Amino acid sequence: KQLLPIYDKPLIFYPLSILMLANIRDILIIVNPGQLENFKNLLGDGKRYGIKIKYKIQNKPKGLPEAFILGKNFIKRDNVALILGDNFFYGQSLTSKLEKSLTHRNGARIFLKKVNNPENYGIAKIKKNQIDKIVEKPKKFVSEYAITGLYFFDNNVIKYSKKLKPSKRGELEIVDLLNIYRKNNKLSADYIGRGGAWLDTGSISDFYKTSDFVSVIEN
Ligand code: G1P
Repeated sequence: KQLLPIYDKPLIFYPLSILMLANIRDILIIVNPGQLENFKNLLGDGKRYGIKIKYKIQNKPKGLPEAFILGKNFIKRDNVALILGDNFFYGQSLTSKLEKSLTHRNGARIFLKKVNNPENYGIAKIKKNQIDKIVEKPKKFVSEYAITGLYFFDNNVIKYSKKLKPSKRGELEIVDLLNIYRKNNKLSADYIGRGGAWLDTGSISDFYKTSDFVSVIEN
């Protein structure tokens, strides 16, 4: 899906450009088996775009935190950001928010957006400006703040990811990882407000909605 076009370019270009806005130049793309050659044909080593791209295969869908286990030799002792290949962010205030997150050298940082369908996302409940609770796709209403697919972590993320146990659906869960940071008082959040857009292109209809959105803003 990340190789299909949203308006005039493949979806993957949008999350890549968000990392570039955050001045991140060393990028590891984690792909399904069988997809590697397609990604390499499109993006190569990234030199054309002024970035350095490496690739890693995730053999089975074992969850987002596996990225930090697969990527540990790539991350080495650095801090790291994770962006999901199907998440679309847009907004003028985004650059300063991204730059600000890079100054948080300790802990984890997430980006929240109010949504009408919180049951489809990881959700954060805020109490007195603090993150009080984090749940994945709650069936009962918890909060309207969705956790978007852009995360900044300190280097502890490798160690914490290795400690996670698979959930009932057999995957390591990003919310479990975020909860470790929350319990250590090391989780902070920023908001994508009215001036910004966030679209998860997960479903076909959301995919086309995003494409329409881009065609409007680019014309
Ligand atoms: C994943 C995460 C979820 C997050 C969402 C953002 O869900 O598990 O916490 O809110 O991405 O796009 P998925 O889209 O894989 O169901």
